[in-house]
Amino acid sequence: MANRPAVVRTVPALRKAVELHRKRRHTVALVPTMGALHAGHLALVREARRRAGCVVVSIFVNPTQFAPTEDFASYPRTFKEDIAALAAAKADLVWAPTAAVMYPDGFATRIEPQGAALAGLEDRFRPHFFGGVATVVAKLFTQAAPDIALFGEKDYQQLCVVRQMAKDLDLPLRIVGVRTVRERDGLALSSRNAYLSAAERSVAPVLFRVLKASAERIRKGEPIGHVLDVGRREIVVAGFALDYLEARHASTLAPIAARSDGPIRLLVAAKIGRTRLIDNIAV
Ligand code: PAJ
Repeated sequence: MANRPAVVRTVPALRKAVELHRKRRHTVALVPTMGALHAGHLALVREARRRAGCVVVSIFVNPTQFAPTEDFASYPRTFKEDIAALAAAKADLVWAPTAAVMYPDGFATRIEPQGAALAGLEDRFRPHFFGGVATVVAKLFTQAAPDIALFGEKDYQQLCVVRQMAKDLDLPLRIVGVRTVRERDGLALSSRNAYLSAAERSVAPVLFRVLKASAERIRKGEPIGHVLDVGRREIVVAGFALDYLEARHASTLAPIAARSDGPIRLLVAAKIGRTRLIDNIAV
């Protein structure tokens, strides 16, 4: 059996463990997660393994990025299985702080990202979300002091927000984006897929199918507005409550009217039953 990664639960223990790797001149990579690990997360860990001598994976279900109405309490927690999967993926360290370690009594500072964080996509439906993400990710960066940090393209707006924050705050690390891992039928892997009933699961791949078909039609020169209207209709007809299907500039997330304003990213969010799914694709 593969060696189990060391689990650290305090900032001094984390710093000490990372320091030992630094002394051996290892590059340090951080993969932030909320646990309930699946093959998408593990692709980030494997990419980190290829790029660094020290791979730190954080597991922290961050309360500040959930609204009171969202699924913080019921969010899947599978710590034992996560550690086994991280052993197989050859992670070195698991950074697993409690909420009291991350946000001790009297904690009073929050990062409020703008720009891509106010693009009118996820932020329109989860206004609290990117402030919570930016604050915890900034803390994870200062706690582990990595040379690189890996994020999935699956959460594309989050990737843009984190890139912008690292740039704006002169954080001395590189943000690496990793391609979305999908099921065979195209559904993007997500911890929240576990919430889907069998019937919902069979409809869920419609999102990726519409993204793919829309990207293809835009590449062929069809007007973007028309392509999106058709895609939106297809998603609703399949039984989703659509939050958005949008074409945006791939790095600023600014609205885009024509292909020449690109590179273009298509982004979608929709609810099937009680489960909210997001996905995106390059044009
Ligand atoms: P979480 O949803 O656990 O995701 C952790 C990382 O895994 C994110 O960078 C996410 O984009 C990536 N990921 C998820 N599904 C993926 C897939 N199918 N393919 C590739 N990568 C995938 O995102 C968060 O946690 C949190 O917001 C966090 C950044 C940890 C801050 O709390």
